[in-house]
Amino acid sequence: MRSLLIPLLACIACAVIVSVTAVSVREKQNENLEYDKKTKILLAAGIIAENIDEEFTNITTLYIDFKNNELVEMEDSYDPIKATFNQNTSTLVPKEKDIAILKRRENIGPVYLWLNDKNSIDKVVVPIRGYGLWGTLYGYLSLDSDLNTVRGIEFYDHKETPGLGAEVENQDWKDLWEGKLLYGSHGGVQLKVVKGSAKGKYQINGLSGATLTSNGVSNMINYWLGSDGYGPALKKIKSLYGPQVAMQ
Ligand SMILES: Cc1cc2nc3c(=O)[nH]c(=O)nc-3n(C[C@H](O)[C@H](O)[C@H](O)COP(=O)(O)O)c2cc1C
Repeated sequence: MRSLLIPLLACIACAVIVSVTAVSVREKQNENLEYDKKTKILLAAGIIAENIDEEFTNITTLYIDFKNNELVEMEDSYDPIKATFNQNTSTLVPKEKDIAILKRRENIGPVYLWLNDKNSIDKVVVPIRGYGLWGTLYGYLSLDSDLNTVRGIEFYDHKETPGLGAEVENQDWKDLWEGKLLYGSHGGVQLKVVKGSAKGKYQINGLSGATLTSNGVSNMINYWLGSDGYGPALKKIKSLYGPQVAMQ
């Protein structure tokens, strides 16, 4: 019996140490993830900031209720990804509409807005996510004041293979996005990542050897900027914060 006591006490001590360490590290991990997300929001908009939190004070965060595309008030601490784990704060995406393979979509989503001194849009960033080959890619897409011209794209989390799908992080590939156009003349999302050589303003070169990840990126852009994502809300934001027409 005594021979079992010492290993048992050692096991309990180790379990306590591991649990305490895991809890104390989790808070720091969450802080780092938040910091990384903020950095990527700024990078997508082409901003390299020394003081991320200070730069964030220039951003107006709007929250969209996807049910009616109305603007709603939310706490700064609101986390749209966490919202997808709760049935009260998220909605099942119907299979036929789930082109980004989300399964659930948060009921309320943030849009990050930079306003100029005339209180009209300078640029916006919207969150995007969707399935690649091995898992969900999480990122941000930035648009110019016309809410159609792309400024940049950034991903802060994914499970794609280094050298293949993980090339979504390659700066040369991300540079291809700047100046591309999102919406065609009929209003739908026309921008696509294509295999082979991209032509014109609506195509981006696919990642070589990673067509499945490339398709995933196309699909998430299509979903989040389309009519089931931020598309209608962006139109509303444009009418509220677009360039003001001078009164005659
Ligand atoms: C170990 C391994 C990892 C792979 N990782 C990826 C990946 O991250 N993204 C991707 O699109 N394809 C990946 N592929 C390749 C896909 O299976 C598929 O062949 C590829 O997407 C087709 O692209 P291509 O037509 O440009 O060659 C991987 C293949 C293997 C064997």
